[in-house]
Amino acid sequence: MRQNLVAGNWKMNNNAEQTADLIGDLKSSMEGFEPNCRVMIAPTFVNLAAAAPNTEGTIVEVAAQNMHQAEKGAYTGEISVDMLKSVGIQTVILGHSERRTYFKEDDALLKAKVTTALANGMEVIFCFGELLAERKAGNHFTVVESQLKNVLFDLFSDQWKQIVLAYEPVWAIGTGETASPEQAQEMHSFIRGLVNTKYSETVANELTILYGGSVKPDNAKEIFSKEDVDGGLIGGASLKVADFTAIIQAC
Ligand code: PGA
Repeated sequence: MRQNLVAGNWKMNNNAEQTADLIGDLKSSMEGFEPNCRVMIAPTFVNLAAAAPNTEGTIVEVAAQNMHQAEKGAYTGEISVDMLKSVGIQTVILGHSERRTYFKEDDALLKAKVTTALANGMEVIFCFGELLAERKAGNHFTVVESQLKNVLFDLFSDQWKQIVLAYEPVWAIGTGETASPEQAQEMHSFIRGLVNTKYSETVANELTILYGGSVKPDNAKEIFSKEDVDGGLIGGASLKVADFTAIIQAC
């Protein structure tokens, strides 16, 4: 179901104590207001087992930042879908540009990860977006289209209920540079159009499409006000409770 969502991707930040503190602060700052969106945080793997019970009974949901594509086996250092589920995690972020760049995750690998996640009943926040050079060359629509087609367009219509998309132009991640609300809307509307053409109007209209890349309290409202922007995936600003709360309130 299309629902607004603001998700904080904490990346490799916050140890166990800092995670507990930040969750505590977030819970207090959210007291007394009912946001117009789902609220989610994605701490690092080792802190998920503590974060999940710590948010139980609140509106804050907890997601993982990654998972391995195999169900289990000899993959030293990796985390399986069952491990995530066993500590209460139901959502996983896949395809983040940092995973693509630093860990060489390509479309084929991401397709395997998405397949495993969906087969195990997980919700997937699937990230994609063009590089600066690709936008400058005017190739951003082609790049985004191929990222989506290569990974998601063999899914059955029904499986799209488990998918949230996150358009994250790589040039806007952690750079302080944001896509303008118009650029975000233009791309989101293009994406919804692709899903409409490949699947149906219902699948397209029910799809939640987040924008990510330097969303801050002072630009969130304008970006979120666009028709096809259903919330955001927030990096840096999700580490500061006041900023993250302000972004949630902007949704
Ligand atoms: P940023 O990160 O908000 O710090 O740009 C967004 C993301 O990486 O999802």
